[in-house]
Amino acid sequence: MKASKTLYVCTECDYQSPKWLGRCPECKSWNTLEEQTVQNTSASSSASKKNYQITSDYESVATLYDELDLPEYMRNNTGLGELDRVLGGGLVSGSVILLSGEPGIGKSTLLTQISASLGDNKILYISGEESRSQLKLRAERLKLKCPNLYVLTETSMENILNEINKIKPDVIIVDSIQTVYSDNISSAPGSIAQVKEAAMRFINIAKNENISIILVGHVNKEGGIAGPKVLEHMVDAVLYFEGERQNTYRIIRAVKNRFGSTNEIGVFEMTEVGLVEIPNPSEMLLADRPKNISGNCAVCIMEGTRPIIAEVQALATTTVFPSPKRTSNGIDYNRMCLLLAVLEKRFGLRFSTNDVYMNVIGGLKIEEPAADLAITLALISSIKDQPIPDNVIAFGEVGLAGECRAISNIEQRIKEATRLGFNKIILPYRSIEKLKIDIKDIELIAARSVFDIIKTPGILT
Ligand code: TYD
Ligand code: MG
Repeated sequence: MKASKTLYVCTECDYQSPKWLGRCPECKSWNTLEEQTVQNTSASSSASKKNYQITSDYESVATLYDELDLPEYMRNNTGLGELDRVLGGGLVSGSVILLSGEPGIGKSTLLTQISASLGDNKILYISGEESRSQLKLRAERLKLKCPNLYVLTETSMENILNEINKIKPDVIIVDSIQTVYSDNISSAPGSIAQVKEAAMRFINIAKNENISIILVGHVNKEGGIAGPKVLEHMVDAVLYFEGERQNTYRIIRAVKNRFGSTNEIGVFEMTEVGLVEIPNPSEMLLADRPKNISGNCAVCIMEGTRPIIAEVQALATTTVFPSPKRTSNGIDYNRMCLLLAVLEKRFGLRFSTNDVYMNVIGGLKIEEPAADLAITLALISSIKDQPIPDNVIAFGEVGLAGECRAISNIEQRIKEATRLGFNKIILPYRSIEKLKIDIKDIELIAARSVFDIIKTPGILT
């Protein structure tokens, strides 16, 4: 029986090496390899296998698909409609959710709020970061009544398990998974091995005892979830809590969800009394819209099933330097460069002598190609210093030839745009052909290419 061996494991990417290295050959980070002792006995490996069996529904014989039972998911409303929407209609019993976000974004606030609104469910809030009095203070500040909430400030996995067995909660909140450590593993709390082990244990409990578990995860330098990448594969849902420090709006987004769609977002505002839901984000995003200024164009994007009106801003300023600067916030950098190239080549606009800055209001991130047209128009508007009228909105994909390509959900987008007072809608020619709804009091401008829009009187002329 071999005793144990020493491995060096990268804390950023889980790369393993038998000897210490200053730089990880996998992810190229410096000083990230940490020493770990791995028990190599056959007994411990069979025990850990048993530990890592993550569902009680395992069967070692194959079953005919038609004979499988259809599971019925029990969903609990969290009391926050925006969060329920992102979860796919509520918190599923026995599911494990990883919630991550930058420090101070409001993860603990959100979880304290749902601890009060999760109905009759018995909740165990395990905090490794804050003291009992801090937790009490926060709940008092939020004026919450939490009659079913138990608070545990413990970081040892073994002690946590004892308490779970004693209290038998319906929901467990772990704030955060990086603070939990197990005595079975020799490496430090927060290391890859510890995080993986703790997550495995919690997933086991969730599946075997049908308890919903929310794990809070720290983010790393790049904004991803700190710890092993496998963590994201192991859990049922991964939610990111995003927002900019400068403004109070917060967006919660599912990047993985086994019980619902991943495209949904929930929008909140951080106020004096905690997070307040914003059921109509379009109104919030358009609130401080500047009037009659060049470089702005409204767009309607789809976030899951919900149309949201956003505003794209562009600023092109002449530069004397040979390599002009390009900065984008909320818009994919490469997409912006591609559209700039199209405008330069097809329409002769001299962006190569301009610095270009692009921004989406409200900290929103636009990934849909349907925003191409608005990005393009904002850029043209800025370089020509010609404002686009306030009642104009544009959506459509732009191809490399400068042509406008059809997009989906056109009716929903038009409805949302008209609800918010836009009455001149620019959209791809092919999308208009498919339109089934009645359009009154609004002007639809069908564009075959960006050139059509530049020529249309009253838009950029
Ligand atoms: P917190 O939930 O502690 O963040 P996280 O757990 O993600 O690190 O939130 C911290 C910030 O939120 C803090 O800077 C203060 C602010 N805040 C409010 O603005 N209003 C409130 O009602 C509360 C409780 C916090
Ligand atoms: Mg916190």
